[in-house]
Amino acid sequence: MGFPVNRPRRLRRTETLRRMVRETRLTPDDLILPLFVCPGREVRRAVASMPGVAQLSVDQAVREAGQAFGAGVPAVILFGIPQRKDARGSEAWNDSGEVQRTIREIKEKTPELVVITDVCLCEYTDHGHCGVLTGQEVDNDATLELLARQALSHARAGADLVAPSDMMDGRVGAIREALDRDGLSRVAIMAYAAKFASAFYGPFREAAESAPRFGDRRSYQMDPPNGNEAMREVALDLAEGADIVMIKPALAYLDLVWRVKQRFDCPVAAYNVSGEYAMLKAAALNGWLDEERAVFEMLTSIKRAGADLILTYFATEAARKLAG
Ligand code: PBG
Repeated sequence: MGFPVNRPRRLRRTETLRRMVRETRLTPDDLILPLFVCPGREVRRAVASMPGVAQLSVDQAVREAGQAFGAGVPAVILFGIPQRKDARGSEAWNDSGEVQRTIREIKEKTPELVVITDVCLCEYTDHGHCGVLTGQEVDNDATLELLARQALSHARAGADLVAPSDMMDGRVGAIREALDRDGLSRVAIMAYAAKFASAFYGPFREAAESAPRFGDRRSYQMDPPNGNEAMREVALDLAEGADIVMIKPALAYLDLVWRVKQRFDCPVAAYNVSGEYAMLKAAALNGWLDEERAVFEMLTSIKRAGADLILTYFATEAARKLAG
């Protein structure tokens, strides 16, 4: 059977009809807002390559987190920009660091908001790599213990989930063990399981002041052409105890979001990264595309590909629009 009996346009004729047969629905529940926390008080330092995003001091970050929750966003993910960097990134496990203080304050003021923390050393090391160095190489096994310390410090401050983004082998297991040993078995792990060495992180590195001082991240982040390897990374992280697995970036890797969701019956997150935000904002600010429509089309595509959760800098705005 085909045309003229079949006419798919019949169900597209009016908005009410379209509403009835719409297959994918984005809701605020799907969204996670990233926040960059910096030293100081009442600081809002705009990030040039991410219009609308700023580095925020603890008080401001807590405020933005409260506003996100008010708009219906269930979770934030925190990134820290420390006062001081060193070779090992030791500010990362300072119990009174920016991230740790933000967690405590959010838990006081907006206790129901889920607080996730990014666990990685790149913002904290003076060389900007995600782990400690032996010579010019990022030393996998020596980094594990430091990541575990950082995760533990976040969890003790009250984080609900920790999210390792460093791409060291074995870090999910090392963090799970450290948390459990400390009586923090309730704290969940969202693993950046398939994280690619991507050009789309450019604006983030300005926001988080985390660009590597030499070389690049290709010896630990994944090679963009590899999809089967992404499946193996996800399987390993789940075996080590990950509760949620993430694909990152989202748009250029939607095939992998789909494959992971089909293959593993666990919650899947996708990170709509800084470069994806910047591209869309830049075009919208030039009047080259309709921002609101483009944002919803983009976020819906990530959900349609199979993501249960989407980390996006558009979270609060999108949630407000969804609420009407
Ligand atoms: C830290 C980290 C990065 C991002 C999240 N965690 C940057 C990187 O790996 O260089 C990127 C997020 C974004 O681009 O929005 N390792």
